[in-house]
Amino acid sequence: MWEKQHFLIGVTGGIAAYKTVDLISRLKKKGADVTVIMTRNAKEFVSPLTFQTISQNRVYTELFEEDWDVRHISLAKKGNVLAVVPATANFINKAAHGLADDLLSTVFLAFKGKKILVPSMNVNMFDNPITCKSLNMLKKLGCYIIEPEEGFLACGDVGKGRLPETETIIEEFEYVISKKDLMGKKILVTAGPTIEPIDPVRYITNRSSGKMGYAVARAARNRGADVILISGPTHIPPPCRVKLIRVETAQQMFERVVEHFHEVDIVIKAAAVCDFKPKSTRGDKIKKTDVDFKLVLVQNKDILYELGRMKQKQILVGFAAETRELFKNARQKLVKKNLDMVIANDVSRADTGFASDYNKINIIYNTGEIEGLEKNTKENLANLILDRVVEHYC
Ligand code: CTP
Repeated sequence: MWEKQHFLIGVTGGIAAYKTVDLISRLKKKGADVTVIMTRNAKEFVSPLTFQTISQNRVYTELFEEDWDVRHISLAKKGNVLAVVPATANFINKAAHGLADDLLSTVFLAFKGKKILVPSMNVNMFDNPITCKSLNMLKKLGCYIIEPEEGFLACGDVGKGRLPETETIIEEFEYVISKKDLMGKKILVTAGPTIEPIDPVRYITNRSSGKMGYAVARAARNRGADVILISGPTHIPPPCRVKLIRVETAQQMFERVVEHFHEVDIVIKAAAVCDFKPKSTRGDKIKKTDVDFKLVLVQNKDILYELGRMKQKQILVGFAAETRELFKNARQKLVKKNLDMVIANDVSRADTGFASDYNKINIIYNTGEIEGLEKNTKENLANLILDRVVEHYC
């Protein structure tokens, strides 16, 4: 996805311009092509040579230079996304009124692709009704605005105006550049492990990191779906624009999934639900002197099996984590749980599966067809899974 993108990054004169260097480095690592256009004031903060080195492309700063082409028009035709990072109050107010008095503002006016603004400035400048009105006007005209964050500002004030973290900006860019083939669909994703308490300090759980489920939730959100993510405990930052419901036990996950099941079109159950829980949970910590203590386990509800029984219009996608007889076991789960698709993965491999950023999966369809996918990042596999759901069932 990133390889096909050509970003024009406009840099205006704000202290956050130094953070744009990191952003461009991340875009390049993802495979995007980047061309930087700087305003004169931006050059006060970061040298064009820095951006030239990091983008591996010529940096443009002047409207009038000895050159054979009409620069603002040729640059405007070059990229498919124009993002101004940081966008100062001056640039935003100028852009809202169509003023074009330097290279970046003329390119902004001539550009016909997707436009993104990432404002960063003093809180009072951001809250000023003129800036608010300009941002609203630009939003209505189709510009995508990535809101600044609250916190300590370079001027010493505290408030809204900080440039968001690079990770957040990348996530928003990803949303803007993704195809929107799941627009209008509501998708419920479960992720992570569940934990089943033994006493106030101990619990039973499994090795799931939640990475696969979170990747599916983010990919579905990027493609326009309305996403509900029901997650067991993980260390993954919450994805933006996804309704995140945190749970701990299998019973809590069951209740929240059933609560939302009727309103969704697709369910992707990537969670590694604990099959067993302690028969009873002790209110006090079990002491080591309690030598007669025996841990008695009972089965949890199989959430996916229950959904398979309740299913009406919903597409049900399950995962099958196996260490042996991958296809036989996965196929049995597909039939028993009344699934449309099952993602079978061999969790005994050290290089894929739990905790890894990679996975190697096979997709088994309800027609009996099996499709093996190459080892890939969980992000790419999430998109491939969604491609198959769209192709086969939507
Ligand atoms: N699943 C579930 N509720 C459970 C157990 C599993 O909803 N109590 C779901 C998982 O989210 C996954 C699928 O069922 O999508 C298969 O999970 P897996 O752990 O591979 O298999 P189990 O059905 O638990 O069977 P087993 O552990 O015996 O392999």
